[in-house]
Amino acid sequence: MHLRLHRPDRPGELVSFDLPPPAQAGIAAEDWAGISVSAALQYLQRAVDPALGYALSCRRGLCNICAMKIDGEVVTACTTPMHDGILVEPARDSLALRDTVVELSLVRRARVLSPAEQADPKEPHHAR
Ligand code: FES
Repeated sequence: MHLRLHRPDRPGELVSFDLPPPAQAGIAAEDWAGISVSAALQYLQRAVDPALGYALSCRRGLCNICAMKIDGEVVTACTTPMHDGILVEPARDSLALRDTVVELSLVRRARVLSPAEQADPKEPHHAR
């Protein structure tokens, strides 16, 4: 299983990771397919690259803290299953604090703002 990571501090460069079989990563599964992207990032941060940044909290798709762009679509990493060659990026480069970790207040606001309001993150808006 192969994961590609776009790191905002390395523009134009994709960092590639080869994941070992899940059992070797301490995960009770035969294949990474079906295992969450968050679990894969957690393994990579612990075993391969301690500097890798990701955020994780509820692990159930409720808090949005793990929102990131996966294969070009902003989704929650804890509810998105792995597949070979998956591309992981921050939800928005301009909001990236480190790797896939973005400014939290804007992630939370995204749940209550219209797409037009989200288009200009510098403009103050009030949650409804
Ligand atoms: S950790 Fe809460 S939505 Fe993913």
